Amino acid sequence: MNAPNDLSAFWMPFTANRQFKAAPRMLTSAEGMFYRTDTDREVLDATAGLWCVNAGHCRPKIVEAVQRQVAELDYAPAFQMGHPKAFELASRLAAIAPEGLDHVFYTNSGSEAVETALKIALAYHKAKGQGGRTRLIGRERGYHGVNFGGISVGGIVNNRRVFGPLVPGVDHLPHTHLPQNAWTRGQPEHGADLADDLERLVALHGAETIAAVIVEPVAGSTGVLLPPKGYLERLREITRKHGILLIFDEVITGFGRVGAPFAADRFGVTPDMITCAKGLTNGTIPMGAVIASSEIHDAFMNGPDHLIELFHGYTYSGTPVACAAGLATLDTYRDEGLFERTQELEDRWADMLHGLRDCRNVIDVRNIGLIGAIELQPMEGQPTKRAFQAFLDAFEKGLMIRTTGDIIAMSPPLIIEQEHIDRIGETLRGVLKALD
Ligand SMILES: Cc1ncc(COP(=O)(O)O)c(C=O)c1O
Repeated sequence: MNAPNDLSAFWMPFTANRQFKAAPRMLTSAEGMFYRTDTDREVLDATAGLWCVNAGHCRPKIVEAVQRQVAELDYAPAFQMGHPKAFELASRLAAIAPEGLDHVFYTNSGSEAVETALKIALAYHKAKGQGGRTRLIGRERGYHGVNFGGISVGGIVNNRRVFGPLVPGVDHLPHTHLPQNAWTRGQPEHGADLADDLERLVALHGAETIAAVIVEPVAGSTGVLLPPKGYLERLREITRKHGILLIFDEVITGFGRVGAPFAADRFGVTPDMITCAKGLTNGTIPMGAVIASSEIHDAFMNGPDHLIELFHGYTYSGTPVACAAGLATLDTYRDEGLFERTQELEDRWADMLHGLRDCRNVIDVRNIGLIGAIELQPMEGQPTKRAFQAFLDAFEKGLMIRTTGDIIAMSPPLIIEQEHIDRIGETLRGVLKALD
């Protein structure tokens, strides 16, 4: 029996379902920088899908690799069995990760990568005889996916408040968004001292109770909050001093988004673990990963060798098709020099964004790499409405942006050309002009 041709069965994620179903926005194909809609309109993708299609859409190498792999080895169990591409991809990831981060644990998403990293942190301390280190520290306005660990350390109120008491023993650092840093290009000057709040939490709880601190090097989903100069360095210093693990959630910042393989490279700060996903497979096949230090990994590699060292994993950890997509994606980034390209384009991208500062309702513009945010003055008594209006109008005008709160956030594919940057700027100017 055919399903009825209506839209009600699909309960859409992070979507205003009733609004969408009253006026659907359907994407039916994509290539390079563009989507096409069911009404055959071209839409310029200024968000790389959801911060993931870093190499642009339907890139031939990736498409072919997935097609070939699914016909050759569709699935292989991940527990007690292996397939060559999982090892090859892990080695390739370790090779581009910061020095010392040498071991890759596969997941299917950023959320799962976060849960995995938090669990590894707890189990690591236990393995080292410090089982009292169970406290996890996140940051206000942080986004670490939607599973229980992630929303517990996360600091986006709407993602937490209706879901009960969450994981116990979690605390939060203050966010790094200061009004005096408005209109900054790149990293802001003020706020490195906000990292010192970790010393307050250490004094409050005792370092011997704290397992890990997790932060996004650049907070993305909350609306692009940049790390003040010196902030991440200070966080690294304090965590190291107290034996606390530092986790960088690089689900958005990984794979060239800030002009380097990882934000850890860009900012010159090496954490103990990196979580990643999205750009890992160019968004083609779901995949995430935790890249852990040898120090962490090796702490598990003892005891009788027939025993499982870490009781954790997913049916789809490192599937052949995801690994094939990952390898072809890394090839594409390398062959096209996309990480370097981001560095080259960063200034021109920033010029376009900051050129919009004179538009009505714009109260801040911020950027780094190929990430940009335009913050709007919320409508009196109706937060988020103005930005949502901008999102809808931009789509009508052939431009896909993302909004969060009253912030327009953009993260185009790294293959973007000057003509696309210009088109984004012109379209946004029209959109901002038309806003209430
Ligand atoms: C920093 C960060 N962590 C985790 C996630 C969750 O990833 P996923 O949606 O793949 O579960 C995201 C998604 O945007 C993210 O930005």
